[in-house]
Amino acid sequence: MMVSASGAASTGGTQQQIALGQQLFNDKHLSQDGTVSCASCHNPAKAFTDGLPVAIGVGHRSGTRNTPSLASLAVSGETSFFWDGRRALLKEAVLDPLTNPEEMGLDNQTQLTEKLRHATDVGGKNLGVQTLDQAATALTAYIHSINPPASDYDRFRSGHDPHALSPRAEEGLALFAGKARCAQCHSLQGSPVSLTDHSFHRTGVGTEDVEQKLPQLTTEVIARSLAGAELGNQIASHPDEAQLGRFNVTHDIADIETFRTPSLRAVALTAPYMHDGSVKTLDEALDREVYYRSLSAGRPMNLSVEERKDLLAFLQAL
Ligand code: HEC
Ligand code: HEC
Repeated sequence: MMVSASGAASTGGTQQQIALGQQLFNDKHLSQDGTVSCASCHNPAKAFTDGLPVAIGVGHRSGTRNTPSLASLAVSGETSFFWDGRRALLKEAVLDPLTNPEEMGLDNQTQLTEKLRHATDVGGKNLGVQTLDQAATALTAYIHSINPPASDYDRFRSGHDPHALSPRAEEGLALFAGKARCAQCHSLQGSPVSLTDHSFHRTGVGTEDVEQKLPQLTTEVIARSLAGAELGNQIASHPDEAQLGRFNVTHDIADIETFRTPSLRAVALTAPYMHDGSVKTLDEALDREVYYRSLSAGRPMNLSVEERKDLLAFLQAL
């Protein structure tokens, strides 16, 4: 399955803005060394992810987080952006990567404005972008226009195609909504289903590395924030601090190591998994979630080998 941008705007955004947004999204000239576009990391053929554990930007620099799918943002009605929800509006999030040193690497917004004013289409015609606001509006309109094709589960749920789920996947659905309690966070509400609760939870992923250093790390996060450092840039260049998740945004100790529940739409296409990309396959991600979620709920969840296969078949139908 290929998730494409159909141009069918779900919210706002004129066709012109969407087309401009798509041009900018694919334009490598907007990066510091001309090698990286948004689409380099958010590849439409991989549900707008990159297949890498953590993102690689200009000059082969590694970030600290796994590239999330943009395919589900509009359809799931996402209410905060990035793994830690540090942006409340999509329009505020879309320009961040351009000046992030580990992503597109521009020095500052002045350089960005210059680049945008010189941006051209493939035929060399100037795109007519004058302001940051115009670029942010266009990129937002484009991302809102990304309309993934109906999944097997969508078709099953709509009632039009009762055979869209295999019997195994149907068993998996019952487990997902019932005994395995996955739907508690990966919600089956909404139409199409959002597969997220738009909320933040402890994950147990990547915690071993930071647990020893918590007092020092939390102090550093707060000190940098007081000094006015740009949060997204800090996170992309400080792996240990990135593992503190939502704490970076709220400075509330209850939020240490919590991350936004990812929508599971097209999850079979978005390996590797979790905020730090440390889990290679969907099978492993499932095992990890079954183990960790039952541990944190204090209720052991005994799933047989067959039941795990059922759940996996359901995840593959999302
Ligand atoms: C070098 C790879 C890379 C490039 C280039 C890149 N991104 Fe991203 N993108 C990421 C990563 C990694 C994250 C998650 C960062 C985090 O949560 O801290 C992300 C997150 C996002 C999010 C938030 C998604 C969510 O689920 O909340 C949006 C929106 C986004 N990027 C849009 C863009 C746009 C628009 C561009 C081009 C201007 C772009 N990205 C360029 C890697 C990249
Ligand atoms: C308490 C809320 C909660 C419950 C219950 C829950 N999840 Fe998750 N799930 C999350 C969060 C939060 C993450 C992101 C963790 C991270 O990145 O560190 C996640 C990540 C995942 C991922 C990786 C997705 C990606 O794009 O990286 C999969 C797959 C997944 N969950 C499946 C399940 C399954 C299957 C169940 C039921 C056995 C389940 N989850 C139960 C909150 C939950």
